[in-house]
Amino acid sequence: MSKSAQRRLVLGLTGGIAAYKAAELTRLLIGQNATVQVVMTDAATRFISAATMQALSGGPVYTDLWDGRVDNGMAHIELSRGADLIAVAPASADFLAKLAHGLCDDLLSTLCLARDCPLLVAPAMNRQMWEHPATQRNVAQLRADGIAVLGPDSGSQACGESGMGRMLEPESLADEILAWFEPKVFAGYRVLVTAGPTFERIDAVRGITNPSSGKMGFAVARAAKEAGAEVTLVSGPTTLAAPTGITIKRVTSAQEMLGAVEAAVGTCDIFISVAAVADYTPLNPQEQKMKKDARILSLELAPTPDILANVASRANPPFCVGFAAESERLDEYAEAKRKRKHLPLLAANIAQQSIGADESELILFDDQGRHPLPRAPKLEQARKLIAHIARLYPASH
Ligand code: CTP
Repeated sequence: MSKSAQRRLVLGLTGGIAAYKAAELTRLLIGQNATVQVVMTDAATRFISAATMQALSGGPVYTDLWDGRVDNGMAHIELSRGADLIAVAPASADFLAKLAHGLCDDLLSTLCLARDCPLLVAPAMNRQMWEHPATQRNVAQLRADGIAVLGPDSGSQACGESGMGRMLEPESLADEILAWFEPKVFAGYRVLVTAGPTFERIDAVRGITNPSSGKMGFAVARAAKEAGAEVTLVSGPTTLAAPTGITIKRVTSAQEMLGAVEAAVGTCDIFISVAAVADYTPLNPQEQKMKKDARILSLELAPTPDILANVASRANPPFCVGFAAESERLDEYAEAKRKRKHLPLLAANIAQQSIGADESELILFDDQGRHPLPRAPKLEQARKLIAHIARLYPASH
């Protein structure tokens, strides 16, 4: 979702201990420029208070089918009118059963039946309740009815047991809910992305690296996933968590990154090389920590393999997208790099303004010329990059 497009969501809470996670979910959604209208079942209010949800959503919370505050006195219709999506999180076993059978005896179930927008549910329950044939039957029916079922996850449960039934974490849920709005321009594509710096070992405790945070590469991987692709992310050392639904392979050196890319590239349609790969690596890394003395120390460095150039020069290469962080003469260096590496598309930026930052200003270079993307959060830039690739890729093969 782009920052400029505000989404209107109805967030429904049903009775389950995971209801406390809906507080964080609301905060995350609002942070992404969504408006959140909270509707709670009676049981949900036993687990988290309406006052908490009201404070976090910044609007009144509705629980009652007969609530007189709604303009025309028809809360069950009015609250979802104009909503882009209804998400029910947590969705209890009882609520899934009601949805599957079209029962509507409270505000939330009535809203779900009277809606004309997509409905997403995030089940949360004890493992035996989840595995029960009745629940599984209901979930299959909901899927057949076009309702998206997000999760559940497996892990430790409030009841002390362990297994399937935990609600997805708020971060994953927020990602999945917002991804729903992105156009599926990459549906059916397999995408490989590299991200982060590499670390080239000097000795047991030292190495050569750079300040790349991995934020842009992770944003590109997430945007590709949101657009419907199957995504593999090969990342150098970063502190970032893997985006939801993406296969991640963590590596350290340029050589290891090359190995991981070569293992995955054969089946990919699009390769997006965002990593800030070290250009040189120590020729003779030491097993043990080197001791200092007063003399000048010279390090012998050998060039690392150019991963992108390697991939782009394959017999049947995927659609290759390069990145270039330049400290000066951006256009000239970027175009030269694009030609040298035989890339249909290269995204360039000024290194000092983007490395490690949350925002960046990009210029895309392709056969048609240059396309500036004014400064914006990296996820937003990544979504624009994906849209640009989606316009070029079909014509290229
Ligand atoms: N790249 C790569 N492997 C390398 C070096 C770079 O795959 N060993 C990729 C980067 O991921 C990026 C593109 O090549 O997509 C350009 O990287 P950059 O470091 O800007 O360019 P270099 O080719 O290393 O040239 P220079 O350092 O001279 O600017």
